[in-house]
Amino acid sequence: MTADAPLFTGLTDQAADGLLALMLAYRADARPDKLDLGIGVYRDDNGATPVMAAVKAAERLLVEAQPTKVYLGVDGDVDYVRRLAAIPFGADRAADERLIGMQTPGGTGALRLAAELIAANTAPRRVWIGAPTWANHIPIFRAAGVEIAAHPLFDPLTQSLDLDGMVAALETAGAGDALLLHGCCHNPAGIDFTPDQWERIADVAARRRLIPIVDLAYQGLGRGLEADAHGTRLLFDRCETLLLAYSCDKNFGLYRERTGALWAKAPDAASASRLHIAMRNPARSAWSMPPDHGAAVVRIILERDDLTREWRAELEQMRLRVLGLRESLAALHPALAGLRAQTGMFAMLPISHDAVMALRRDHGIYIADDGRLNVAGLTEANIPRLGAALAPWLGGRR
Ligand SMILES: Cc1ncc(COP(=O)(O)O)c(C=O)c1O
Repeated sequence: MTADAPLFTGLTDQAADGLLALMLAYRADARPDKLDLGIGVYRDDNGATPVMAAVKAAERLLVEAQPTKVYLGVDGDVDYVRRLAAIPFGADRAADERLIGMQTPGGTGALRLAAELIAANTAPRRVWIGAPTWANHIPIFRAAGVEIAAHPLFDPLTQSLDLDGMVAALETAGAGDALLLHGCCHNPAGIDFTPDQWERIADVAARRRLIPIVDLAYQGLGRGLEADAHGTRLLFDRCETLLLAYSCDKNFGLYRERTGALWAKAPDAASASRLHIAMRNPARSAWSMPPDHGAAVVRIILERDDLTREWRAELEQMRLRVLGLRESLAALHPALAGLRAQTGMFAMLPISHDAVMALRRDHGIYIADDGRLNVAGLTEANIPRLGAALAPWLGGRR
């Protein structure tokens, strides 16, 4: 570029994010019966994503009682962080002096902060990530300058988990390598490790002295709030260190409020407070202070027994709805039977890329390019339509 050339004129085209492109294509489709099964938000039987009643109630209290809008400070709402910690960790671990945490803008902010910590404070600067994974994981770690090492995990065409392949790959990892794990409800594959499978993962992570980074974005939407935290708690107990990137955006339905937290467990209390400072620095230079509203709402819900009960009941209702839809989807065809053993909002259909495109083109049914479908976007009424559209593509046909 010459010194007097107009700025920003010589940009090369960059690949658009796949899901954002899918959203645009869906919006541009004029067919009235088009079906959005791509975007990862919970929907009810009417296809809506309403604000949870416990959230509405907490918001009313917040509006009445909030005395100021001054900055929260770099750690965010510390009472939110403290109360929330008991949900993934349980009360005892949450009170452990080796555990520190801070509020982040969503689970994405927590992951980015974890990536910055790994980049700045470990010598390997490497993270192991199973394939497939959430589309934003690799860009987040790359943007922080962390090297990505891929391990096998799941084959959508056979719907099979390759735990042996995963563990064999991790046996080659070095001390200080990070290992990214979906705490429950794998996005996109719907995998939920059994307690025995978590044992194997915790064993290799502890022996190889890896730093587990658990991404827990769907707690309560898989097997239930407690069961969905099993892997996180086991890794906390077994490994020297652990990072937990948490999102309240799905299980409290807060999406746009960007409500998350990052916790870190250090080997001892003195290291924990140094780690806390090491976490504050990249947070300060990225967003300085997190947004308030979503965290204040979660804190109010967790402060009050009546709202906590209401939130838990609503979340359980959402979980059961998704489970029922998963069952109906699995019953459509023997090639989909594997979906029954999976949990959470997502499944990868065992179909080709051509099939994904044909669903979009011929039926106005939008799923992600990799075959990921948002189970929560279905209703019992539209499942037969999806089944008819899928039929030519299932069971090894075409
Ligand atoms: C696996 C996973 N991790 C993290 C996130 C990020 O959540 P948030 O919207 O709170 O940034 C998502 C959101 O889709 C996700 O699916």
